[in-house]
Amino acid sequence: APSPRVTERLRPDADGVARAAELLREGGLVALPTETVYGLAADATSGTAVAGIYAAKERPSFNPLIAHLPDLAAARRQGLFDANALALARAFWPGPLTLVVPVSAGCEVSDLARAGLASVALRVPSHPLAHAILQAAGRPIAAPSANRSGRVSATSAAHVLADLDGRIDAVLDGGVTEVGVESTIVACLDGAPRLLRPGGVPRAAIEGVIGRPLVLAGEAGMAPISPGLLASHYAPAARIRLEADAPHPGEAWLGFGSDPALLASAAPALDLSPGGDLTEAAANLFGHLRALDAAGPAVIAVAPIPDHGLGEAINDRLRRAAAPR
Ligand code: TXA
Ligand code: MG
Repeated sequence: APSPRVTERLRPDADGVARAAELLREGGLVALPTETVYGLAADATSGTAVAGIYAAKERPSFNPLIAHLPDLAAARRQGLFDANALALARAFWPGPLTLVVPVSAGCEVSDLARAGLASVALRVPSHPLAHAILQAAGRPIAAPSANRSGRVSATSAAHVLADLDGRIDAVLDGGVTEVGVESTIVACLDGAPRLLRPGGVPRAAIEGVIGRPLVLAGEAGMAPISPGLLASHYAPAARIRLEADAPHPGEAWLGFGSDPALLASAAPALDLSPGGDLTEAAANLFGHLRALDAAGPAVIAVAPIPDHGLGEAINDRLRRAAAPR
């Protein structure tokens, strides 16, 4: 466990940004907002700082982390971009896309952050506060989602503190994150781009840029190469029952475009998007799971979610939440 410490609350202003960057340069742990989820940030070039992330999250140490950069030029100093990687970066950065590419000769991301791999995961987030902190920190910043390992990702500063208060140096409160699910991860390692994790950029948008269908790692007989794709992940305390038509007696209900009568029939009950909008549903996913779980139900029944657009990322997270553990 990490040494206990007082977690500073930083405001989303110039002073907060400067303090966050200072703490990061000193090797500290700072939770900060990105457009997807809150990240638990540390200096990616320092093995010691990165070790602090694993300790605070109690995360299995074989799991490599994403290095965050302020722009494509900074990212290209860390990794080698082939034509596909470059096209994807130009299309979706800054934004909710992570590219796994071979390390460059001058890659500064520590072995620990890469879990010893010869590839590196790079992302340029679009959130203005994240961008300002990355600019001020002046080095790659490792940032997994700011939750304890195996728990639901944090989409607000309150969620971060619920898991990590007293275990990290600071949290910068930038309100509720906009996208709500993590970045899409695409590996560009050997010519054929592979989807390692569905996320904030829908598959179809990526396929539109590379001009061919993306292979999902693990599909079509391919071994999963993203060790973060643990079967049981994003796990609330309650058991999750997927593709439910309605809650059974005593179950909590997580709906999608549900009939108001259904919402009234379970307590607690929440709807990811009453109007059936997948973007709104993604933004609400982790917050609603946390809110329902906090009521202590044995089971959360979840309505079917369409599998297109952001629905692919939502269903991926829900399947992990439902996996046996
Ligand atoms: O939206 C996001 O991506 C958030 C925000 C904070 O930026 N970050 C995030 O990081 O979700 P994390 O650490 O929870 O997820 C990192 C994922 C894991 O699935 C990990 O296995 C994969 O990236 N990954 C990292 N480096 C990799 C590599 N070299 N090869 C394959 N997968 C890699
Ligand atoms: Mg995570």
